[in-house]
Amino acid sequence: MIELLDDDDVARTLRADVRAGLTDSPKWLPPKWFYDARGSELFEEITRLPEYYPTRTERAILVEAAPAIARITEAKSLVELGSGSSEKTRLLLDAMLGRGTLGSFVPLDVSASFLASSVDTLTADYPGLTVTGVVGDFARHLGHLPDGDNRVVAFLGGTIGNLIPAERAAFLTSLRQALHPGEWLLLGADLVKDPSVLVPAYDDAAGVTTAFNRNVLHVVNRELGADFDVDAFEHVALWNPEQEWIEMRLRAGTAQQVRIAELDLTVSFAAGEDLRTETSAKFRRKGLAAELGTAGFALSHWWTDPKEWFGVLLAQAL
Ligand code: SAH
Ligand code: AVI
Repeated sequence: MIELLDDDDVARTLRADVRAGLTDSPKWLPPKWFYDARGSELFEEITRLPEYYPTRTERAILVEAAPAIARITEAKSLVELGSGSSEKTRLLLDAMLGRGTLGSFVPLDVSASFLASSVDTLTADYPGLTVTGVVGDFARHLGHLPDGDNRVVAFLGGTIGNLIPAERAAFLTSLRQALHPGEWLLLGADLVKDPSVLVPAYDDAAGVTTAFNRNVLHVVNRELGADFDVDAFEHVALWNPEQEWIEMRLRAGTAQQVRIAELDLTVSFAAGEDLRTETSAKFRRKGLAAELGTAGFALSHWWTDPKEWFGVLLAQAL
């Protein structure tokens, strides 16, 4: 395991993010703080919900496309950003190992304990492959990825949509800088579709997404000695048609004050006030191709499902 994030670093950035986000107007928290061990488990549960189409749609695309991805890239090393369980990634590992080109797999994630158990499982299941987990932040640590040649960097699940546009541009530029010309980005992106499909995916009947959204308050309570009354915040999922993204928020049911002991900070919420916890942007092929071009990538291949709900693309570093 390569540890690019130690406990001090995590504590420092959480404190800075919580102070910045909760003293801003409107209030916000970055989505990466959902993913402690419980948050990672809740996300896995979300992927199995009937309303949450992205995971199973992307998986179906990868079942079809993995052999071509392996053939086109001849990858020697596969890096995965925000890897989580790497469940779908097995389709790529199988295809790339089947072609005999792949020697190493490098999953990178902020969620250290979840990553460690994924790495253990993958190491046991793929004895011929060198699996090196990296505990890191894909917004900060792309310059520290293990060097290699003919690497493919996979960023699946639509997680690119959780970066706001300025973060996304910075991410793509820093990824391009981290790659040699000719190396590859394999990107999974959720596509714009009818809100009647989108909104339930982020507001499921069983309430798993509610628990996932509220989990960020549990994290702040535990790590910073805060006293959020977690159940006093309602889960809200909205489609923003101008920005073409889903917004997740936590809405204070009544006026209340929250004390964050370790920041020596008291934050007031008005009744009905929202705390923004995530945006999940939905994309169009043309817009993605333009953003990739600006960052120094050329869109090379594009796969989608019959309903065109999700896109998987290969782009090459110029
Ligand atoms: N790729 C998987 C998991 C997606 S969930 C899939 O497609 O199902 C998003 C993952 O990104 C989580 O595992 C989370 O811990 C990780 N993550 C979120 N923000 C991150 C960041 N800034 N840096 C690295 N990993 C991050
Ligand atoms: C990880 N990411 C792509 C998920 C998404 O769909 O934006 C996170 C998520 N938020 C609510 N449900 C799932």
